[in-house]
Amino acid sequence: MKKYIFIFLGFTTFLFSNEADGHSVFQKYCWGCHHQTSEAFGPSFKEIASKRSVDEIKAYIAAPEGMYEAFGYKRTVMTKLNLSEEERDAVARYILSYKGK
Ligand code: HEC
Repeated sequence: MKKYIFIFLGFTTFLFSNEADGHSVFQKYCWGCHHQTSEAFGPSFKEIASKRSVDEIKAYIAAPEGMYEAFGYKRTVMTKLNLSEEERDAVARYILSYKGK
């Protein structure tokens, strides 16, 4: 029985992780500080998209404290968020969809 529960859990996490969509990740975790097109507490997604790649954005979300100097900030006040790889990927692509907007 235990075995089946594991298979079931594994399958549902697989389903859900693949369904991570950038817009909902944004609304859940970033919305308080970032706006898509205008500057808020943090820079707008439009601005971020104009100068960063998917990998850079994902790296920043994973570890702002290890990246802020390389990105030209004197300090970081962005919360360290515990997102899954799929959520980081989805939100990074969502940010890049604002390139040139
Ligand atoms: C507590 C507020 C806060 C939250 C929540 C937050 N950020 Fe930030 N973010 C900032 C601030 C302020 C900066 C500017 C640099 C710094 O302080 O780290 C920043 C910087 C960034 C950068 C680097 C900008 C550049 O120069 O390219 C990225 C990428 C980023 N945030 C993405 C996100 C994403 C995606 C989320 C949600 C998953 C998020 N942030 C949630 C406040 C926040």
